Amino acid sequence: MKIKTADIVISAVSQKQYPEGMMPEVAMVGRSNVGKSSTINTILNRKKLARISSSPGKTRTINFYIINNEFHLVDLPGYGYAKVSRDERAAWGKFIETYLTSRKNLVEVLLLVDIRHEPNNDDVLMYNWIKQYGFGTIVVATKSDKIPRSQLQKHINLIRGTLKMDAEDKVIPISSLKKQGIENLWGALEELFIA
Ligand code: GTP
Ligand code: MG
Repeated sequence: MKIKTADIVISAVSQKQYPEGMMPEVAMVGRSNVGKSSTINTILNRKKLARISSSPGKTRTINFYIINNEFHLVDLPGYGYAKVSRDERAAWGKFIETYLTSRKNLVEVLLLVDIRHEPNNDDVLMYNWIKQYGFGTIVVATKSDKIPRSQLQKHINLIRGTLKMDAEDKVIPISSLKKQGIENLWGALEELFIA
């Protein structure tokens, strides 16, 4: 995909602020620090559009980006961040859930998992939820630069196995650091919009 324009629409703190209209939308979900914001910057070829941080819990709002005036990419706060209070975590959970369950524009929810680690219980729950809601279940395995190429398939198999993925569901390894796998991810996204 040729990125002609990419801009933030709004950092929403409540449902009232979601952009109006029916522009198709793809959302990124996953644990804190998995690389959701980095992935947005990388696939848009913009260094600083989405704010990233080495400490988890960076993204705390729902950030809507508009691409080529054609679709939205949506960066969500990560789940499973231990260092915030239980109340705050519950509030984030609710905030994310409200978005995912109410947003009519959503055409796909990408689940991001760190390629190095076995998906945890939160990831399994999220994956099942995405599936149950009828999305295409594309899993993006981030930080592929952190494992040797010879280990890639082993890690992908572990992710597939733990999430109990169907054979036709995609796992796309990417590295924002090394800019790897980006074309594969765009290929999968383009299929959604063209189909
Ligand atoms: P929250 O907003 O806290 O939910 O995190 P996030 O999922 O948006 O993660 P973010 O993009 O902020 O990245 C977290 C950390 O992982 C940062 O230090 C990034 O530089 C690092 N990171 C992201 N992608 C990659 C990658 O492909 N390779 C490596 N080595 N590091 C990465
Ligand atoms: Mg983030």
